[in-house]
Amino acid sequence: MNILGIETSCDETSAAVLLDGRVVSNVISSQRCHAGFGGVVPELASREHERMIVSIVESAVTEANITKNELDCIAATAGPGLIGAVMVGLCFAEGMALALCIPFVPVNHIEAHMFSAFIPESADHRVPDGPFISLTVSGGHTLLSLVHEDLSYEVIGRTLDDAAGEAFDKTGKMLGLSYPAGPVIDRLAADGDPHFHAFPKALTAQSQTSKNYRGNFDFSFSGLKTSVLTWLQKHPAEFVAAHLNDVAASIQHAIVSVLVEKTIAAARHYRVKAISVAGGVSANSALRRAMRNACVRHGIEVYIPETIYATDNAAMIASLAGLMISKGKVRENRYDVAPFASFSAGSGKASLT
Ligand code: KG4
Ligand code: ZN
Repeated sequence: MNILGIETSCDETSAAVLLDGRVVSNVISSQRCHAGFGGVVPELASREHERMIVSIVESAVTEANITKNELDCIAATAGPGLIGAVMVGLCFAEGMALALCIPFVPVNHIEAHMFSAFIPESADHRVPDGPFISLTVSGGHTLLSLVHEDLSYEVIGRTLDDAAGEAFDKTGKMLGLSYPAGPVIDRLAADGDPHFHAFPKALTAQSQTSKNYRGNFDFSFSGLKTSVLTWLQKHPAEFVAAHLNDVAASIQHAIVSVLVEKTIAAARHYRVKAISVAGGVSANSALRRAMRNACVRHGIEVYIPETIYATDNAAMIASLAGLMISKGKVRENRYDVAPFASFSAGSGKASLT
């Protein structure tokens, strides 16, 4: 089966082709127009997707060395994401599938991240035999889910405020770093001391005495943001500049420790043998290292996508569509699927719950 995947939920325009389960093209164009704004400007994102979509899809099909007529199915992100941005890829994909008289498969972006470690070209691609815990950490979401073999899942924890990616981006903005700050903090932290300053790790066993501790698998990163702001206000700019690597490493350490601790606790609580980590933040080198080490210590298998499949890409959209088709999860064929902005498991918009 030849599947074209299309992804336009945020600031990446991407198209990919899977030939019989193999990724043969994965073209990604990252929008630069948001650089001066410190975040993604929704209207600019939609316009840029609109400008790029035809050429990106053409490139993906050409790189795959096939013609459009050889496609068996087209899949696209239907949400969650910036609604105008989602709509560009979704309408394009539906129109193209309709014109080619082939099925259209709407894909939930977060679910596509959740299964991105199992893209055939990813090093850890074997789907675990048995249930596993998935940590999905992106710019807009931080979710812990218990995933079953039939692809269904239950969300067992989520962020109460900011997503992990937002925690990187917003604290990075306070440090004067460009958007998205996650990869910049990752690079700076490589030469910094993670124990330079102890930023708070909310809702962890360590913070058990805090009145906010709930002993569950939820996350909270807003306190970290406030703490970084307060710390920056207390220290002269020259001191901050001289210790930029250390501050970056300390922020990263606070975020990564919480993610690892909660994910391992969930795996132990549900007695699963495997963990998968996915989403843009799973590209973080400290998180990858710390999660792998913790999993070795606890005898748990770990699945993390190649970094190219960690951040937004269309290969994960095509790949999940393929998995859904093979597991009989695609119920009806429609060319008028409505885009949606927010993630809600169990609402029907999350197709695998
Ligand atoms: O999954 P993604 O590409 O887009 C969304 O669906 O949100 O995730 C983007 C997020 C951004 O917040 C970005 O700062 C973060 O992933 N990110 C990273 C790294 N690479 C991307 N965060 C930390 N370290 C990285 N290396
Ligand atoms: Zn994403």
